[in-house]
Amino acid sequence: MKVKFLDLGMQPIANNFLSDHDQISREYMYHLTVCFDSETKLVSLGEFVPPDMMFNDSYVYHSSLSNTMKSHFSNVAQALKKEFNPFSVLEIGSNDGVFICHFDKHATVAVEPCGNFAKITNDMGYKTYDKFWNNQIAKEIVENHGKQDLIYSANCMCHIQNLNEAFQSISNVLSDDGVFIFEDPSLLKMIERGSYDQIYDEHAHIFSITAIQNLLNSLGLAVFRVAKLSVHGGSNRIFVSRIGSRDIEPSVSDHLDRENNAGLNEISAYKNFALRVEQSKNQLIDLLSEIKRKGYKVVSYGATSKSTTVFNYCEINTDLIDYIVDITPNKQGRLSPGMHIPVVSPDEGFNDSVDYAFLGAWNFENEIVNKEKRFVKRGRFISHVPYVRFI
Ligand code: TMP
Repeated sequence: MKVKFLDLGMQPIANNFLSDHDQISREYMYHLTVCFDSETKLVSLGEFVPPDMMFNDSYVYHSSLSNTMKSHFSNVAQALKKEFNPFSVLEIGSNDGVFICHFDKHATVAVEPCGNFAKITNDMGYKTYDKFWNNQIAKEIVENHGKQDLIYSANCMCHIQNLNEAFQSISNVLSDDGVFIFEDPSLLKMIERGSYDQIYDEHAHIFSITAIQNLLNSLGLAVFRVAKLSVHGGSNRIFVSRIGSRDIEPSVSDHLDRENNAGLNEISAYKNFALRVEQSKNQLIDLLSEIKRKGYKVVSYGATSKSTTVFNYCEINTDLIDYIVDITPNKQGRLSPGMHIPVVSPDEGFNDSVDYAFLGAWNFENEIVNKEKRFVKRGRFISHVPYVRFI
């Protein structure tokens, strides 16, 4: 049975930064709610947005723009090569090639539904199918490239609405001894940190290991290792093989126990979380309003999909945040989804006139605070994770 536990109100497409009046007047909105399935233990959105409205040729998120993510993917690529020495590699959701660039072009194939990114990796020489991951593309890959020894996917499985089909298709492509490794934001971390902004249209599900194990086991697949990651505000890297083909390592039961102890298998933990989310909203509005009342200039740092959720849920607009700074060229000169806050480059907007900066990209706190030492001497960053505070 699915139980709705959180309502984040009407929301726009989180990454749909708007360029003109026409786009503003046609902006798509949907009702962002979150449900817990008491049977499978899966946490999913109550309403899904049509995938091609989110993932298309104008997708803006570039993994390679952050040094943290660049070294993250370089490290994982080296580690996987060393441990599994795969003959063939498939990446699902290859973005700008930040992971596959570490593999041999002739032994690697990628699937990426955002045409602008598929073009980048095709131009780099990596065969990339400009498609959504499903049964059909899985068949095509087996026909054209054979079964795959290593299937990797980062921040993509949680985007896929029909998980049964997605995992079944992966099983169809995986070689007998192959490994499927994927990483996505951790439900446990989200609950612990109160980081409700992990919830937005693209994140159709927020995964617990418990829910993933339930789903995979029914398809003949097993989780044999889980590694905690610090990226994206706390993620899990989940290692999967066919049932019986590898020993299950202690990290799996460790994670299952931790989730169980945190109450993730019961609805009450989610209801508590919802109460904390509402408190966080009130505290953030109070803090920003107070600063503004005193005449200080407040901006936001990082035009993230996460901040789309925060700003729309808390109804924070240009009354409280003058503008957002972000290094992504495709977001600059545009307006943030829903609240229509202008986005400019840090060079243009992050200057001595700024007194406070809400850290929309709180998951890059170290990278940003280190980069902005000059600001830190004078102004203050504000974060709402794990509670509303000055950094
Ligand atoms: P994410 O939280 O969805 O990964 O998005 C991070 C956003 O923050 C992305 O638009 C790039 C932006 N960003 C900056 O503007 N400056 C930075 O130094 C970093 C690391 C990210």
